[in-house]
Amino acid sequence: MLNNMDKYTRKIISTINYLAQTQDVDIMMERILTEARKITNADAGSIYKKESNMLQLKYAQNETKQKELPPNKKLIYETFTFPIDESSIAGYVAETKKILNIDDVYCIPLDLPYKFEKRVDETSNYRTRSMLTLPLLNPSEEVLGVLQLINAKDHSGKVIPFKEEFVPMVSFFAECASIALERANLVRKIVLRMIKMAELRDPKETGKHVNRVGEYSSILYEAWAQKKQKSFKEIEKYKDIIRVAAMLHDVGKVAVSDTILKKQDKLTDEEYEQIKAHTYLGACLFEDPASEVEKIAQIISLEHHERWDGKGYPGDIGDADKLVECPNRISPKRGKKGEEISIWGRIVSLADVYDALTSKRCYKDPWPEEKVIEEIKTQKGKQFDPELVDIFLENIELIEMSKKRYL
Ligand SMILES: [Fe+2]
Ligand SMILES: [Fe+2]
Repeated sequence: MLNNMDKYTRKIISTINYLAQTQDVDIMMERILTEARKITNADAGSIYKKESNMLQLKYAQNETKQKELPPNKKLIYETFTFPIDESSIAGYVAETKKILNIDDVYCIPLDLPYKFEKRVDETSNYRTRSMLTLPLLNPSEEVLGVLQLINAKDHSGKVIPFKEEFVPMVSFFAECASIALERANLVRKIVLRMIKMAELRDPKETGKHVNRVGEYSSILYEAWAQKKQKSFKEIEKYKDIIRVAAMLHDVGKVAVSDTILKKQDKLTDEEYEQIKAHTYLGACLFEDPASEVEKIAQIISLEHHERWDGKGYPGDIGDADKLVECPNRISPKRGKKGEEISIWGRIVSLADVYDALTSKRCYKDPWPEEKVIEEIKTQKGKQFDPELVDIFLENIELIEMSKKRYL
């Protein structure tokens, strides 16, 4: 029979395998937190990402608070950043690279440099007691972030301190997770560099814009897939894939002349046709897709300007891979319509327009949120899939919260 250690080691190894298949760095962080909570039976937790000399809260989870919500509703919380220094628990861990295992955060001796911010408990009406905080370090010992586990529970659900004997195991998990995290960071960096190339052509396509479009697309996909009763495994797989692939929606702009993209005056019909070409030129970049991320990125590139009513572009243009030889071709008269457009294209079209309207651009101020919502409702069944508009409206709080991570 397996002893406890073997059981946990096996569990950690299978979890690491699962993390290794994750593409997106944000999804990866959320999964690291979920899995670390499972290993330690922690009621709550947070994961922070290091951004220069600050820590940014990326995800927070709280089982007790989650149970108070209707099924499929995600917990809404405020994201925030704070400096890496010894005054906070997570800051201390990032600064010193030491693990802190605290039995009760309300009883931290006053002579220690860090203290617990009780305000967080007061606003959320929750009592934080035990806390295990670990640094996430890459193989060169650089801090990638901090993992914080809150309120370990025993079999009866009573809050207890985190057992010392678990600490080496959780820190082994954090070590392996950090390697997977480093790889996901690299994927994100490569994607952002590709976008930087497009941004040199079209300054509207910034890293922040595409990150938000990726985030909204992933939220919309998850809610849509739950409604369609897709399996947990499928949802987990594709919410990660669309998070990365949606970021690449406008990457085809690298192949469009910047004199057209940056032109302030009204475009001629021919110039507009060239702009429209960024859809299938983007699809050409993913010729012979090597992975499912690339396959879906190709579809998204091609379809993100299609409209539910068929008045979008480029329409059914046949084999996108062959179009690179004739970049000036005129789009067909009719766009794809309704479910002819894949769910990936329908989702990203809505996410992209929502972000464009709510953001400041060189030619316009951001629209007020209410006006944007009104516009999206007006476009239900015209520009956008009506079912997706309903899903969007049901999840608007979550979408607005995720926006704050990329301002
Ligand atoms: Fe576009
Ligand atoms: Fe965009």
